[in-house]
This record gives sequence, structure tokens and C-alpha cells, in this order.
Amino acid sequence: MTEIRVVPGNIVEAQVDGVVVNLFEGVTRPGGATGAVDRALGGEISRLIDKGYFKGKLNETFLIPTSGRIPADHVLVVGLGKSSEFDLDRVRQVSATAAKTLRRVGCKRIATIVHGAGIGGLEPGAAARALAEGTFMGLYRFDKYLTSREENTAGDLEEVLVVEFDAAKIPVLTEGVERGRIVAEAVNFARDLVNEPANVLTPTEMANRAREMAARYGLEFEVLDREQMESLGMGAFLAVAAGSAQPPKLIVLKYWGTDRSEPPIAFIGKGITFDTGGISIKPAQGMEEMKTDMSGAAAVLGAMQAVARLKPKINVIGLAGCTENMPSGTATRPGDIVRAMNGTTIEIINTDAEGRLVLADCVCYARKLGARAIVDLATLTGACVVALGKVASGAFTTSPEFLSKVKAAADAAGEKIWELPLFEEYRQQLKSDCADIKNVGGREAGAITAAYFIRTFAEDTPWVHLDIAGTARADKEQPYIPKGGTGVGVRTLVELALRDAGQS
Ligand code: BES
Ligand code: ZN
Ligand code: ZN
Repeated sequence: MTEIRVVPGNIVEAQVDGVVVNLFEGVTRPGGATGAVDRALGGEISRLIDKGYFKGKLNETFLIPTSGRIPADHVLVVGLGKSSEFDLDRVRQVSATAAKTLRRVGCKRIATIVHGAGIGGLEPGAAARALAEGTFMGLYRFDKYLTSREENTAGDLEEVLVVEFDAAKIPVLTEGVERGRIVAEAVNFARDLVNEPANVLTPTEMANRAREMAARYGLEFEVLDREQMESLGMGAFLAVAAGSAQPPKLIVLKYWGTDRSEPPIAFIGKGITFDTGGISIKPAQGMEEMKTDMSGAAAVLGAMQAVARLKPKINVIGLAGCTENMPSGTATRPGDIVRAMNGTTIEIINTDAEGRLVLADCVCYARKLGARAIVDLATLTGACVVALGKVASGAFTTSPEFLSKVKAAADAAGEKIWELPLFEEYRQQLKSDCADIKNVGGREAGAITAAYFIRTFAEDTPWVHLDIAGTARADKEQPYIPKGGTGVGVRTLVELALRDAGQS
């Protein structure tokens, strides 16, 4: 477990293994802490710049052995890119790059300055928060099943010291670092869930982990089992669970940050612990990726963990609709008609369009619990990946005001979302001959018709749907996003809750 501490002092004198300093692109004479380290190294950083070996491009690194000139063995210079383009997300990126680079060379203790709080012009508390977020998200790895991990990779960093020269800034930096660490730990909790294989992370195991987390951080926990869902009339959710030997679980987490009479905001996540497609079975190629089809649920559990720790003065409920989607003799068939909790009858054309069925009943349940607004997150459609790639999540809403709040939160959190329309003309594609609605709307506008389906269950409750099919899993490493589960959505939800409470 890596510790992080903000300490007063001069980074040149830090008693650590590695020291991180930075440089904007185009700067020829380093100033501040970088200048101090440069002088202690006899102008070595200046020389690298003069000779063109180091340009300061974003996430560029140069590792300098100090040979005893300062207490640390290594100085890592990290590029910040152009100062005109610098922002909090770049703080996250360079902090992750620096921590990972020094871990790779075997450092156990490192010291860093807060990137961007000086000439970068960022607010110091926000920059410190971004530094901690980037550091802890970047250091994440899922290696519990690698038997001989020690032979292949460096051990963990033990401590990150954030060194600040100006003692007056220490409290605000400490508060920022603490928040950032809580957010990153929530993201990493979600990543662990996403990366677990489906033989381990069954709906029951997901409920167990949610229960443990809730007990640890003081959330109210409840789980609805098959019988309870039957009594509530959740025929859509149960239709997805019908083929599986694993019992479904609807996880309910409640956070009370203000008077219990105040209506809560609800976060809902799609928690398909494995999506085979059911009777409408998926092709074998790449099917293993469908262990990540519970990423929406993971994001909700992660966000609830951070909310419980950051304590915004609002009420929040988190719902995770967990089940496998399996083919079997008891599985739902194409053509089956089922009834959702609100009485709507659904003709199931394709059993692989299961996420919307689970979400339909979860949305009904959130309304029954008195939600004043709903955000759902789901790895819902391949069509959304076609539309937006792996760069942005699709966003859909019945309430432009509510979406603008979610968008502002996503922006601040460094997660990209992009709105797609829900024109009422799309409704036609969901018309069934024999039921109120069908669960697929044909090839055209697949992400939109999926969202439209859920929308009909949200009725008049302000609702935002985020389709994270393209963003929940990364197939290449980025500075603070490792390969595999990304934990996308956690940061947006946490930021939304904090802003809703006026606390960010
Ligand atoms: N879980 C998938 C969507 C998905 C695809 C997530 C790729 C992540 C990456 C979802 O349940 C699904 O199978 N959707 C179908 C819907 C179709 C049958 C209307 C799809 O997108 O093909
Ligand atoms: Zn599916
Ligand atoms: Zn799915």
C-alpha cells in the first residue's frame, strides 16, 4: 500500500530514492524547484535542454542518475507540454507517468512537487488532488493471479512525498491530496471488480464485496434476491437471469448525507457479470471481454465508496443490477414476452440486448425509492463504440439541465462524454406487434434505440444514461489508465455528487 504525504521543505534535500521535477515545453532555463535541482546537479538539466535531448513534451521523461550530488539516487524530469495547454488532466497524466517510471527502476520512496501550481496557474488544492488521482490511478495493476510477479515487475512504491516550499500552502495541498487519493482508490476498487474473471466475480461475490465495502465505510446495504425481485414484479431483470445457475442480485447501497426526507439522487449500474448473449449467443471471438459487462455496476459501487468517504451533504442511492446472461434449458427465448416492474410488457427479440432489460427494472425501483434524478451507466451497445470509439462515453437524457450538470462534472473529472439525441422518431423502431415495446430497434442508431428503451421506464424523472461500452475497458495503456478495466464513470459520479452538494 503506497502512502502519500505533503511535507514542507526543499525537494533537493529530500531523503528518498527518486525525485520528480518538471519542465514546460519551450522553457530553456528551468525555474522553481526544477531550477534548484538543476543547480544541485551542476546544470545538467539545462544542458539536456540546450542539447535538445529533452524538450518538455507532455509525458516525456528523462532519468538522471545523481551520483551522490543530492540524497536521492534518481532525478526524473517529466515534460508538462505547452504551458498554454496545461490543465488538471495533464497533472493526472504526468503524475502517473512519473510514479510509474520511478517504480520501474526500483524506487521505493519518491518525492515530487505539485505540477502546475506554480507557473502553470492551477489552483493548488485542485492540482494536488489531480496529482494524487493520477499517481494512484497510474500505479494500479491487477496482478493477483500472476504467480511469479516479483520476477517480472518491480515492487510497490512505499511512499510518495509531496514537497512544498511554501509552508502556508500545506493545509490546502494536504486536503487536495486526501480527496484525490479517495477518488483514485474508488476508481481502483471498480477496476478490481471489472478485471476479476466471471468465475470469481459472480453476482453473489459482487454483493459480498459491496457488503464488505459498505460495512467498512458506513453505507446502508441491502440486496434483493430472486424471490424479492419476483414479488416486486421485475420480470425484465429476471428474464435475463433465467438461464443462469448463478442467482441474480440487485445490490442497493444508501448514503445519507442530509435529512432522510430529502429525496436522493440515484446511480444505477448494469452488472452483467458475464454476457454470453444468452440464446442469441455471441461469436466466440473476443467473448472473454464480456467479463467486463458489469463495469457500470462497478462504477456505481466505486462511486458510493468515495461518496461515503467524502461525505457530501446530499442523499445518494446506488443500485447495481447483477446477473449473468447465459444460454440454457431455462433461458429466455427470442420472442418471449415479459412484464417489467411498472407493468410495461416487453417482447424480447434478441436475448443479447439484456442490459436494457436489467436497467428497466432498476430504473423503476429507483423511482419507487423516491429518486429525484437518475444516472445510469452501462456497457450497453456495440453501436456506441462504433459511434464514439473508445474515446468518449455516449450520453443521453430527458433533461438538458441535468445533463449539463453531469457534463460539467465529467469535464472536471477528466472523463469524456458526448451527447447523442433521443428524438421521438426513434420510438418507432421499438414498436412491437404483440407487446408494449420490444428490446431491439434494428441496425440503425443502435445506441440511441437502446437508450430510448430505458428512457421509457424513467418516465418524468430527470435521467441521464451513459453508454460506457467503449470506455470501460482499455486495450492499450495510457498514463493513468492501465490495460483492462478503466473504472470509467467513478470520477464523474463522485464529482457530480460533490457539486450537487456544493462541495467541489
Ligand atoms: N454487452 C453488450 C454491449 C457491448 C459490446 C459492450 C461491446 C462492450 C463492448 C450488450 O449487451 C450487447 O450485446 N448489445 C448488443 C445489442 C444488440 C443485440 C441490439 C450489441 O451491441 O450488439
Ligand atoms: Zn448482450
Ligand atoms: Zn451486455
